[in-house]
Amino acid sequence: MTKYVIHGGKPLYGEIDISGAKNAAVAIIPAALLVDGVCRIENLPQISDVTLLLNILQELGADVRTVNRTTVDVDCSHIRNARVPEELARKIRASYYLIGALLGRFGSAEVPPPGGCDFGGRPIDQHIKGFVAMGASVDVRGGYIHAKTAKGRMTGTQIYLDIVSVGATMNIMLAAVLADGLTIIENAAKEPHIVDLANFLNSMGAEIMGAGTDVIKIRGVERLTGGAYSIIPDQIEAGTYMAAVAATGGEVLIKNVIPKHLECITAKLLEMGVDVEELDDAVLVRRTGKLTRTNVKTLPYPGFPTDMQPQIAAVLCLAEGTSVITEGVWDNRFRYVDEFRRMGAQIQVDGKIAVIEGVEKFTGARIQACDLRAGAAMVIAGLAAQGTTEIGHIHHIERGYEDIVRKLSGVGADIRVVVTPDEDKQAQVG
Ligand code: EPZ
Repeated sequence: MTKYVIHGGKPLYGEIDISGAKNAAVAIIPAALLVDGVCRIENLPQISDVTLLLNILQELGADVRTVNRTTVDVDCSHIRNARVPEELARKIRASYYLIGALLGRFGSAEVPPPGGCDFGGRPIDQHIKGFVAMGASVDVRGGYIHAKTAKGRMTGTQIYLDIVSVGATMNIMLAAVLADGLTIIENAAKEPHIVDLANFLNSMGAEIMGAGTDVIKIRGVERLTGGAYSIIPDQIEAGTYMAAVAATGGEVLIKNVIPKHLECITAKLLEMGVDVEELDDAVLVRRTGKLTRTNVKTLPYPGFPTDMQPQIAAVLCLAEGTSVITEGVWDNRFRYVDEFRRMGAQIQVDGKIAVIEGVEKFTGARIQACDLRAGAAMVIAGLAAQGTTEIGHIHHIERGYEDIVRKLSGVGADIRVVVTPDEDKQAQVG
């Protein structure tokens, strides 16, 4: 078993560089399927979700060349295959973007249902509603989602999303860029990674207007040509380190960020008594005094991001007074609470609401990451805790955080990766 071992209680000081945005990268890599030529993708985060998607493109027949640590050249011109290999795709949620991209490119796609973090039901009915409105038939058989258009090309149309969905918005954009005619997405999601996907596609020759508002218009074009594109910095990675400084105290300059994307997080930290200074492409986060309670409700962008909910909960556990968190996006995103309780937190959960009574400190414990952001929140709790925290199932964390151990060690955290083969055997026996 590989785990993180953290000796907590040390304030953080120094600088952290933020990597490219995971949730933009996992849409932009499939988007390369639509490009007839070489596209250079820069500022890719080095995380397992990115590696998996690049492997899937290669399995489909793409030529993928590493240029440097964060840059790849992807050439999908010669792909003829629209069936995605099962084993790789099931490990990742974002494999659903392959449906939109393959439908856009070939008018057909065969993709296994997506994997990823478990927050209760994760339906994709809005994606399918969009594809069907654009002329595809979609059915599930033999463990695969089969999508196909009779005429070999998607048809532009008007689609109203019943729910503000990041995935459905981006998937319909992918299916629409090479479609016949104009596609209009109404009640679209507005997250920074939606704008980033639109900018990537437009830089390759697409005609997408309105990304970042709730009406997106996509005029289909005949082909996308190659080019180079640099992915935006990761809003949630930056927010996670901001929350870490809030929890431990100290002062850290978080570099290579777009401060505007962090405003929803900054606003809450300010309410809690944390100093956040916005610079051009960095934020300086400082916490010296006590943390004060607040309430948080997660909402689609520009609301407070659900992907920061567990991390802000870790900070609120240490704030004076009673805080209330309302999860407004997912049905079941409080699965980490039992692990926090083992560290001394006082949290009650009722459905989508968590009530947190602040405590003086976390105490170290042996815990297990249950999903990506919950795992990051456990790291934050461990950094702030008195004593030693061991976190298992860290593969969840490494799906989405590049070099988290190195980045935190660089600002003074005592965190190590420990491999214990014996426990592996015990786990298999048990
Ligand atoms: C994306 O998931 C992110 N994943 C998630 O981040 C993030 O939590 C979520 O957006 C919300 O911001 C990726 O980008 C790969 P949604 P997605 O469609 O697209 C319901 C992380 O930690 N819904 O916006 O799957 C759904 O059940 C991950 O980085 C439908 O009902 O989320 C949820 O309640 C975890 N039908 C809400 O909409 C649909 O067809 C929002 O989901 C689609 C969604």
